[in-house]
Amino acid sequence: LENGQAQTPQMGWNSWNSFGPKIDEDMIRATADLMVELGLRDAGYVYLNLDDGWSELERDDGRLTANKAAFPSGIPALAGYVHSKGLKFGIYGDAGSHTCAGFPGSRGFEEVDAQTFADWGVDYLKYDNCFAPASDWVVDRYTAMRDALNATGRPILYSMCEWGVADPWLWAPEVGNSWRTTEDIQANWESIVKILDGNHGLSRFAGQGGWNDADMLEVGNGQLTVGEQRTHFALWALLKSPLLIGADIRSIHPSSLEVLKAAEVIAIHQDELGVAGDLIWQQGANRVYAAPLAGGDRAVVLMNTHTTGGQYLTSNLTVTWRQLGLPHDASARVRDLFAEADLGEATGSVTAAVQAHDVRVLRISPLGGQRSDDWRPW
Ligand code: GLA
Repeated sequence: LENGQAQTPQMGWNSWNSFGPKIDEDMIRATADLMVELGLRDAGYVYLNLDDGWSELERDDGRLTANKAAFPSGIPALAGYVHSKGLKFGIYGDAGSHTCAGFPGSRGFEEVDAQTFADWGVDYLKYDNCFAPASDWVVDRYTAMRDALNATGRPILYSMCEWGVADPWLWAPEVGNSWRTTEDIQANWESIVKILDGNHGLSRFAGQGGWNDADMLEVGNGQLTVGEQRTHFALWALLKSPLLIGADIRSIHPSSLEVLKAAEVIAIHQDELGVAGDLIWQQGANRVYAAPLAGGDRAVVLMNTHTTGGQYLTSNLTVTWRQLGLPHDASARVRDLFAEADLGEATGSVTAAVQAHDVRVLRISPLGGQRSDDWRPW
């Protein structure tokens, strides 16, 4: 959507994955403080977003209103606090009669609700798709809120959570700044791999102002190993899915924080070329994903999904220059982006060892005159 938002995919924090609908202003203020203190804001995570559960069960004089017990100071004061920390403030709504957790939806109230959000200082709307009559056309409901947000004159990033409808990427780039491609994520390896499978082949639909959304991050949640968290994070970054932290950062483990703050991986996500990566090779448990970067570099994620009878086997994975649209006789510098270490120069291909349920994220920088960024992974 050409509304000036999401020129690179959005980064921030959202309450749902850790808290569900049980949210209140104290935890949001504490999270805002920590986004700054832990260096997350400065790493790029600027949106602080409420998900479902913030409102009263009934409208107040036709307007949405925050739950008085959980948000006694009200949303404008909370948004003001978030803004005072150099962060942006996001909220959640629904294109049907009710939100997924049963709070009032915006169907038929698009204009008044968009104006309420704008009046409150909202910078980001996640707009869900529960409790909508099957007779409505989903595109009409989402377009109504797009137009209502636009009419407020306030810049508001429009994140559509319309998953469950067929092939939303065919219409969504005109309507929203991101669209959910796949079902709700869970904090386990099977869910992460299933969502990746569902996103293969969708890179061509993404671009500046409109991104495929593989759902919010589970880094720091559940029993994911550090390698699994790296895999999740690196591939969401390469696919240019929004990077929305879903952990309780008041108690996050340092190893998870390190994954979330991996600056050279974030640089792939925020690369100004804005071309999403995709799967380019798969054989058995091994996969190669790649994306072009501004100036002609390539980002490569080597992934090892191996799980057999409790055995975890390391793979040696190779990517060739031909697979990346580079001349096979070109030399290139290779850098390991999680390790933040140069691996030296290579010609024609590079091979790296990848632990099971882990990735290696490489940046390939061709030397000399071989620096076209025209190559696409589709
Ligand atoms: C849906 C969305 C989730 C979350 C919940 C809230 O399931 O996909 O991301 O917003 O609703 O109820």
